[in-house]
Amino acid sequence: MMKTIFINDLLKDELVGKEVSVKGWVYRKREFKDKIFIVLRDSTNIIQAIVRKEDVPREVWEKALEFQIEGSLEVKGILKKDPRAPTGYEIAVKDIVVYDYGQPFPIKGDEDIDTIQKLRHLWIRNRRFTATMKIKHSLLKHLRNWFIDGGWWEIHPPILVGNAAEETTTLFEVNYFGKKAYLSQSAQLYLEALIYSLEKVFSLTPSFRAEKSRTRRHLHEYWHFEIEAAWYHLEDLIKVTEESLKYAIEKTIEERKIELNMLGRDISYLKKVIEEPWISMKYKEAIDILQSKGVNIEYGQDLGADEERELTKDFEVPIFITYYPREMKAFYMYEIGDGTVKNFDLLAPEGYGEIIGGSEREWRYNILKKKIEEWGLNKLKVIIGDMEVGAYDWYLDLRKYGSIPHSGWGLGLERLLMWVAKLGHIRDTLPFPRLREGWLYP
Ligand code: 4AD
Ligand code: MG
Repeated sequence: MMKTIFINDLLKDELVGKEVSVKGWVYRKREFKDKIFIVLRDSTNIIQAIVRKEDVPREVWEKALEFQIEGSLEVKGILKKDPRAPTGYEIAVKDIVVYDYGQPFPIKGDEDIDTIQKLRHLWIRNRRFTATMKIKHSLLKHLRNWFIDGGWWEIHPPILVGNAAEETTTLFEVNYFGKKAYLSQSAQLYLEALIYSLEKVFSLTPSFRAEKSRTRRHLHEYWHFEIEAAWYHLEDLIKVTEESLKYAIEKTIEERKIELNMLGRDISYLKKVIEEPWISMKYKEAIDILQSKGVNIEYGQDLGADEERELTKDFEVPIFITYYPREMKAFYMYEIGDGTVKNFDLLAPEGYGEIIGGSEREWRYNILKKKIEEWGLNKLKVIIGDMEVGAYDWYLDLRKYGSIPHSGWGLGLERLLMWVAKLGHIRDTLPFPRLREGWLYP
């Protein structure tokens, strides 16, 4: 029978003294003389069930004895209030329906990371990870809602693509019926094609990066939330970023207090992020600050994880770093005469670093064409039938038929979650992270 009652539905005074039943898994089990305490868990919460030898038929007692941690069952009994129970209520068991007694659960809680990787399909049942998934769900839901309510259209770009959106060095190659294809690094170029009809668009897709670097914040596959808007300039983009993220974080705090507490996240800290204006500084200023802190970095060098940590660790709100030197960034960013581009990286505070990369796009045909040549991308070709065309011809075409200013960004959902939930490693933002180690297991 379908499950209709969840543990959270039972934690109510008006049900005290009534007969209840609930399905779930054994979270903890302890025997004490003629009592067996089973803490049951489901997707919503935990509740203690107590089996008293003198109150139940012998076969119910024997069933209770046989359960292993993570065994599955339905318990039936009378709901009581008990301040000593972990969630304040307790079920005095009358009957048990067995689904699976289970076998000794291979995870005890003190395993090293390699063991966990091998058992990840079981490890993900733990309560901290479940809380993390719920926080991720809320962040995405509210982010998406903010854009939908603001008149943005959700679109569905392809994952198998013929050309790079970002650096060609991080492409994953796929054999596409004997021809070379790639896994998408970003939906941006496709979003750009759609602003001419839908004006404000967003998408959520997996993005793939064959990054050489192994860090706490790099995945080979991550969930990419990207937006693109016609007529937007950099300033408009920055405004939308701050508003939408503040909204998503505020709603998530309201909805996921219990989960954030479970992870030990200080909510009052996150409240400052919502209440205070975010900081903006030019790349040049960021370099000056880093140099004044004794960091060994020159103008023109990229900010790596270490530099970003140094820059953000003393701040309590995110920082927009704007106007990077053109050579450091992708070919599609709008250039201003001084050798910089109209872009930003949004760095999360507390040392977390980049969570969004965005820019105003180069919409002037001649300049974009030159940049594509300068970046060597004009040499890349794709075959259509027996015709060979430049891989970026279609992208250039967008600048020929009613070109307009436009801007957009991409947010790494796992990066956002990592910061909001204050996690130490990005692998814990996904049930089955694609890392170099144990990469397809499970
Ligand atoms: O800065 P990136 O490379 O920018 C783009 O892909 C743009 N085309 C996006 C756009 O304008 N539509 O990536 C955007 C974000 C980063 O800020 C980061 O949050 C995340 O994607 N990201 C990663 N997350 C996890 N693991 C990786 N290897 C990531 N690479 C990028
Ligand atoms: Mg970036």
